[in-house]
Parts: sequence; structure tokens; C-alpha cells
Amino acid sequence: MPEVTTTAEETTAGKLPRLLAGLRRGRPTTLDEHHEQLGSMPSTGSTGERSELLTEIERSGLRGRGGAGFPTAVKLRAVASGPRPRILVGNGSEGEPASRKDTLLMARAPHLVLDGATFAAELIGADEATVCVKESSKEAAASLLTAVQERADAGIEEVAVAVRVVSSDYVAGEESALVHQLNGGSAKPTFIPPRPFEAGVGQRPTLLQNVETLAHLALISRFGAAWFREVGTPDDPGSVLITVSGGVTRSGVYEIAAGTRLGDLIKAAGGPTDPLQALLIGGYAGTWFDVEAALDVSLDHQTMRALGGTLGPGVVIALPQGACGVAETAAVAEYMAQASSGQCGPCVHGLAAIADALHDIASGRAAPGTHEWLARWSDDVVGRGACHHPDGAARLVSSCLDVFGAEIDRHERRRPCVPPAGMRGLLPTPGAREPAAVS
Ligand SMILES: Cc1cc2nc3c(=O)[nH]c(=O)nc-3n(C[C@H](O)[C@H](O)[C@H](O)COP(=O)(O)O)c2cc1C
Ligand code: SF4
Repeated sequence: MPEVTTTAEETTAGKLPRLLAGLRRGRPTTLDEHHEQLGSMPSTGSTGERSELLTEIERSGLRGRGGAGFPTAVKLRAVASGPRPRILVGNGSEGEPASRKDTLLMARAPHLVLDGATFAAELIGADEATVCVKESSKEAAASLLTAVQERADAGIEEVAVAVRVVSSDYVAGEESALVHQLNGGSAKPTFIPPRPFEAGVGQRPTLLQNVETLAHLALISRFGAAWFREVGTPDDPGSVLITVSGGVTRSGVYEIAAGTRLGDLIKAAGGPTDPLQALLIGGYAGTWFDVEAALDVSLDHQTMRALGGTLGPGVVIALPQGACGVAETAAVAEYMAQASSGQCGPCVHGLAAIADALHDIASGRAAPGTHEWLARWSDDVVGRGACHHPDGAARLVSSCLDVFGAEIDRHERRRPCVPPAGMRGLLPTPGAREPAAVS
């Protein structure tokens, strides 16, 4: 579990942190401490008041923090207008290997997540809420369960929240896969429609939100839309949690204003440990940027979309000059291929072939023309799966071809890739092959 390293001085204008304010080192915040810091949750009251609160969420401009950045109010309204009964699901699956922010929130600020879950459930008229936590996040699960009990002991009247332990697999956190698990099925995406908001858990209209999104809702319910908009950009207001790792002095989870310059975030993380060559923004479905271009990038959804990238679940990985971006991406491509749920041909065969070709390039074994073939295949798999998994993997590989072109040329001339110790495996790939290194 990374410790939180963000302070108000390190971010903007002394207005942050918000979500990470008051966290205790090495243990969860108790209910008393939580109430002392933030007061108790305001009641959602009558139907009229709930409708006003929905409008307030709309005014806040909150976007989902699970990857796609979809406006939260639109989802809330869609479920709230569906048939009863309805259900709220908090997504704490955090399948992205380089992300720690959801686990950190659930482990250290469980009451913020639970406040958000009960508030969202009440807003949509749900009588049930479930927060899902991945199997490997034992500390987060224990912390949530203790927090649920504390609330019951305190006699807080609210929608009952269940905590469910779910698969830690990469695609298990995709919304239809999560619903499928909660319905007793395997952790595999299902073919849509229907989408969860139409017919999800037990065929009920299901509001599925990332746990960071829920934590923001808990604060907006207390402090309002104007407060939320005090930081961030007009299109992407508020703060956002980013997990920073790789070649930086202090890896960890940082809370920044959306729209913060990446260079400023790297500075807040203590600066690079070695001169950097590139940065990966958005995680394993994200995009590589050359260091020159990356440091001035504004970390918000609108900017990232315009650059052909994504903020994803808020992941930044810094790649030092001594590391090989091609070998690192080959290992991630293999991880992504293995993560496929095995249901759609282009995803199963396409991702495996892409990973093999990238390994061949990185190890100096590639046949002439492999680079061009890879570019074509990466385009071809986009939009060809039942879920967006292949699209994300293809985006990562395409950006690798663009950013590490010189490195790829060198490898295609059969030059070996031998990153020194400490410069390999910077991108965690549970269970995948070692990054290619050939003598
Ligand atoms: C392959 C894949 C994996 C995903 N994994 C997660 C995950 O681990 N956690 C998460 O919150 N969202 C994940 N998502 C996004 C969810 O499908 C969904 O959009 C999100 O949980 C909605 O919450 P939000 O609107 O609050 O962001 C994933 C999406 C895809 C395509
Ligand atoms: S696109 Fe891939 S991960 Fe998504 S459902 Fe199809 S096989 Fe599974």
C-alpha cells in the first residue's frame, strides 16, 4: 500500500487534498474521526429534494473516475427514471496493475466511499447497495467491513451496504463483467445491450460507479457544486487521484486538480530519479508520450481525448532513459493478451499476435516489415470486441510505435535490448513474460 504523499503546498492554491485529507497512516479513519472532519451526511429528504440534489450533481460536472470519464449525473438520472427495484454498485475492482488509488480510498477512507454509496443509492431510489473489492485487496475489504459494522452499531439509518469480494482479473472490473459476477456468473464481460442501467444485477436498473466517483459524490453532497468546481477545468471539474510510479523519487497516490500540468505532478512526486525519455498516461489502456511533449500535457479528460489518449483510471508511469519502452510495452501487451476473457476472436488472436510481434521486435528477432504489420493490426482490432479491452491494448501499442520509433528501428536491425538492472519490469505485469532482453 503506497502512502499518500500529497500536501496542499504540492498541489494547487492550498485547496487540496480533498479525498485524501485527514487520512491516518497505516489504518482506516474511524466513523468518529470521519464525522469530526466532515460532519454527518445531509439527508436526501423528499422526492423534490432528491431532484434538486440531482441537479446539483449535474451542475458539479463530476465525471466518472473509473476510466471513461462519463458524466455521473447522466447515469444517475438514467437509473433514477428506470423501473423499481434499483441497485447501486460501487466498483472497487481496480484491475489496472499500476493503479492503487481505489484500494487506498477503500482501505483508508472507507466511510467516504460508504457515504457516497448510500447517497447515490438514495438519490436513485435504490433499496440496496453493494461495494465490490478485488480479492487481492484484503486490507480494503477488511476496512470496508469494519466500517459497515461501525455504521450499523451507531444506528445510522441508511440503505444497507453489502461488501462483495470479486475477481482481481484485469477485465473483471469492466461493468458488464462485474454485473455478471454479482449475478453468480464468471468474471467475463457479457454482450451488450442491455447495459447495466437498463438491466443489471438481478435484472434491476443498476447504477455502477467507480469508488472514487462515489467518494467525490460524498463531498459534493456536503459542500455543493460550486465548491467542487473551485478546482479543475470547466469541462472536467474537481480533483482527481493519480497513481504515479516508475522513475520518480516518491511513487504514490496523488490528488491533483484536473487540468494540472503533468510536469507539476512529477515535481510533486519528488522529480525523476533519472533523466526521463517518456511517460505513460492512462495506464495499460493509455498512451505513451515522449517526455518533451508529456510534461506540458494538462491532465484532464478533454485534453487527453484531443491528444488521442485517455486519463483512464488516473495512472502515470515515468520511463527513465535507461529503460526500453518497447520491451516494457511488449510485456504489457502480453499481459493484456492473457487478460482477454477469450470470447471474441479479434481480441483473443489479435492481442496474442500483437504481443508476440512486439516481443520479436524487442528481442531483435523480428522479420522485416513487422513494425508496419503491427501498426495495421493495432488498427484492425479496435471496436472488434464485445468490450473495450482490445481498443485499450491497441491504443497502447500504437503509441509505442509512434514514441519509440527510433528504438524499434534499432531493434529491427537486430540490435539487442539490454536494459540495466533496475530499468526492467517498471510496468508491473502479474504473470506475464519478463520484458524481452536478448544478448
Ligand atoms: C477492460 C475494462 C476494465 C475495466 N476495469 C475497471 C475497474 O477495474 N474499475 C473501474 O472502476 N472501472 C473499470 N472499467 C470501467 C467500467 O466498465 C465502468 O465504466 C466504470 O466502473 C463506471 O464507473 P464511473 O462512471 O464512476 O467511472 C473497466 C473497463 C474496461 C473496458
Ligand atoms: S473483447 Fe476481449 S475481453 Fe472483451 S469480451 Fe471480448 S474477448 Fe473478452
